[in-house]
Amino acid sequence: MSETKKSHKILDFDVIKIRNDFPVLNQKIYGKPLIYFDNAATTQKPRVVIDVINKLLSEHNSNVHRGVHYLSDQMTEMYESARKKVQNFLNAKHAHEIIFTKGVTDSINAVAFSFGELLVKENDEIIISEMEHHSNIVPWQMLCKRKGAGLRVIPFNDRGELLLDEYKKLINSKTKLVAIVHASNSLGTVNPVKKIVAIAHENNIPVLIDGAQAIQHESVNVQDMDCDFYAFSGHKIYGPTGTGILYGKERWLREMPPYQGGGDMIEQVTFEHTTYDDLPAKFEAGTPNYIGAIGLGVVLDYLTNIGLDNIKNYEKKLLNYGMAKLTVINGLKLYGTARNKTCIFSFLLDDIHSYDVGMFLDRMGIAVRTGHFCTQPLWDHYKVEGAVRASLAFYNTFEEIDSLCEALKEIQKMFS
Ligand code: ALA
Repeated sequence: MSETKKSHKILDFDVIKIRNDFPVLNQKIYGKPLIYFDNAATTQKPRVVIDVINKLLSEHNSNVHRGVHYLSDQMTEMYESARKKVQNFLNAKHAHEIIFTKGVTDSINAVAFSFGELLVKENDEIIISEMEHHSNIVPWQMLCKRKGAGLRVIPFNDRGELLLDEYKKLINSKTKLVAIVHASNSLGTVNPVKKIVAIAHENNIPVLIDGAQAIQHESVNVQDMDCDFYAFSGHKIYGPTGTGILYGKERWLREMPPYQGGGDMIEQVTFEHTTYDDLPAKFEAGTPNYIGAIGLGVVLDYLTNIGLDNIKNYEKKLLNYGMAKLTVINGLKLYGTARNKTCIFSFLLDDIHSYDVGMFLDRMGIAVRTGHFCTQPLWDHYKVEGAVRASLAFYNTFEEIDSLCEALKEIQKMFS
């Protein structure tokens, strides 16, 4: 039996059943069944998330941490229970180490500002890598500009693997923080974050991990990884948009100043002076996106029920299948061939502009992203402006990969 025929049921993983949980997948685009391969940009939402948001807005809405009344109490309880779900999902030591933000960008900016205020001075250095998303470059550049500090960059090889020997050479007494992506949104590379953290810690340097493209593909254990900060977005893990998480070790979060002031983060305010509330409130100024946070908690339960290991195993099979099928297409050049990678295929086809390939795929019902994917310095490495990216999720199928390959061959014919 071919891999394609076996695809519906692998181990305990029934992709047809899973697809039925995602209403958006069941539609036609230009008369063709939708093949959604833009999951690194955002993932689709299972019905449990859609239903809970509807229910919360229809029956429960009330602001958290403020009311003495029934609805507010109920909402506060659900919001704080969502925090505990995130704590469990990441295996964080304390629930108050989980800060709700509006996304990974917000989380990284919070650390760049707050940690930067606490510890970064003139001539200090921050280490990032050549494969970072702009959201893990620009906030550090802004911090460096404010403080007169410098940015150091770990290079990668042509497969898209970080050069750890070069990383070690960059560390010195001026290094204040290492900020590294867990899985590259453009190349799919899964970085050896535990090793990266250990190397930094040997030198007493804290580490922030940008988990935006890793959290949905494998289980993350922040205590085992021993990172100081871990950031991710809800919308990339099948949860609501406008939600995000900043995990920080208690020790850092206690020392760091708040990065935003406002309601719900204070203990006492006078016109002369303000004292701040305890964790996590200190970092959650203003009305939080409590409905989104509860939706995020619901999707974490949903994924835990399916099993992160089952998801990882299935996606690994999709990855191997896709790599095998795409590499034999004449004229297709893949970017990102790391030995440890997630289900992302970035490529260029002959000398056809990535945008044209994306447009034609769209007309065939296949949604991909084209361009630089917010990682312009990464593409400088390869001396190209960007690529076409098919980024897969656990609801995608082998048959959809077949369709992508057929569509690419058709596009080649059109352009030849
Ligand atoms: N960072 C997102 C992507 O890779 C938006 O597409």
